Amino acid sequence: MASDLVWLNGEIIPMADARIGVEDRGYQFADGVYEVVRLYNGKPFTMTEHLDRLERSAAGIKLALPITRAALEDGLAKLVAKSDVRDGMVYLQASRGVAPRNHVFPEKPSGTVVAYCRALPPVPAPGEGFGAKLLAVPDERWKRCWVKAIALLPNVLAKNEAAGRGYDEAAFVEDGLVSECSTANLFAVANGTLVTHPVGAKVLPGITRAVLFDCAKELGIKVDERPLREDEMTKVQELFITSTTRELSWVSHWNDTPVGQGTCGPVTLKLHRAYRDRVRAQTGA
Ligand SMILES: Cc1ncc(COP(=O)(O)O)c(C=O)c1O
Repeated sequence: MASDLVWLNGEIIPMADARIGVEDRGYQFADGVYEVVRLYNGKPFTMTEHLDRLERSAAGIKLALPITRAALEDGLAKLVAKSDVRDGMVYLQASRGVAPRNHVFPEKPSGTVVAYCRALPPVPAPGEGFGAKLLAVPDERWKRCWVKAIALLPNVLAKNEAAGRGYDEAAFVEDGLVSECSTANLFAVANGTLVTHPVGAKVLPGITRAVLFDCAKELGIKVDERPLREDEMTKVQELFITSTTRELSWVSHWNDTPVGQGTCGPVTLKLHRAYRDRVRAQTGA
């Protein structure tokens, strides 16, 4: 299957033939960064923004990408064209490469860059689908969450805690303040204003988040970038979460307490429709 192709350090090969060294620093130290780009209709959405963030993340861990931006763009375009995935994602990961195990960076890192496509189920239309249930969990992550690092163990543990207890997502809380979820940014609608935690130490600069800021501006919806207090979460009119793969999901519960009206709220719906307009304009989907 063409979806089992891998772009590895400049070559497109079957995934079964792809070899990455045991001493790859991505494998041993989680010394790497990644991106997930949504494909609609066989076309990537916001590829430029994702590659810009990859470069910022790489700089954030002092990783010199072993490939030029132009060569990476070219390689990804070829991979997507060869793949049979129409609706799905491109997963892209860059690590510091293979070197004898040592915490100190190698003098001349080889770098490993790998990408492949995977099909994903279609996202429910705006306003449709079940509301997500969020479980509040303590934030045990590092303080550079703006780096999209492959070191995701605290996120993995949090998501599993949530899933094991019947929730859809884990929301990180520290000192009574809510930052984001294990795989998504978090927004509230409070008295008509869109509220979300600023990006930085505790929040990834989500690409979906940035597109939504543009949508909000266009729709005349005010945005307030401030931390949400945990005690606000069940008092706001609407809550929703965003990510590349899910777009926007409305939230039905904060822990066991219902949020909003038990359906997708009107501001969430408006924003999701505006987001879809942008997807359509860029990909035709
Ligand atoms: C921790 C975290 N926050 C936010 C997001 C949303 O980012 P984006 O909209 O770029 O997918 C993700 C996506 O995977 C994430 O893992």
